[in-house]
Amino acid sequence: MYSQDQLKHQVAAAAVDFLVPKLTSDTILGIGTGSTVDIFIDTLAQHKHLFKAVASSSERSTLRLQQHGIQVLDLNQIQSMEWYVDGADEIDQLLHMTKGGGGALTREKIVASVAKQFLCIVDESKVVPQLGAFPLPIEVIPMARQVVSRRLQELGGDVVWRQGFVTDNGNDIIDIHGLSISNPAQLESLINDIPGVVCCGLFALTGASVALVAGQKGVTTLS
Ligand code: 5RP
Repeated sequence: MYSQDQLKHQVAAAAVDFLVPKLTSDTILGIGTGSTVDIFIDTLAQHKHLFKAVASSSERSTLRLQQHGIQVLDLNQIQSMEWYVDGADEIDQLLHMTKGGGGALTREKIVASVAKQFLCIVDESKVVPQLGAFPLPIEVIPMARQVVSRRLQELGGDVVWRQGFVTDNGNDIIDIHGLSISNPAQLESLINDIPGVVCCGLFALTGASVALVAGQKGVTTLS
């Protein structure tokens, strides 16, 4: 029986195998955030001579990338890129995701928006029939925390401020527990429209293009 950590290593290796044949000296990759991505970065570093640079979605990933000697570009220097690689907290069969467990959702969504394709790398515990068991993270402007919380309460879940946590952008995170998310894209739009919300942790309006899923029987592909 593989542990979750072993599965993360397997999916990170599979992602590198998937990407290496596609890399050229001009390639810029978008890099997400989290424990799975940390392992992916460490594995990718062995092939750093095969691509040009990366765009990073967090201070955490930037530090790790730079420690490996991988060039991290400012996103403003990048017009487009083919692949963005990131983990997820939950993913459904239509490749809608909940992200932001690590609090990097806003930069993740921004960097992902520049990429043509999103490669999601998860272990099988993240694949769910319906999103909602994992608390939905929302990044908010600090002065709007209470007003946004009141609006989010109307959606039916329990709204919890991630007290003591500050995002890379200097903002707060609110997690909505106990939501049953039957229409992720509609909910993402609705939350996006609340004044004071910086980013909703649903990635459904634009989901993943491909997901690699590590399970006890090997790595499978969802697309
Ligand atoms: C960070 C994220 C991560 O992708 C998500 O939390 C999954 O992380 P991990 O690979 O550690 O399980 O969205 O904001």
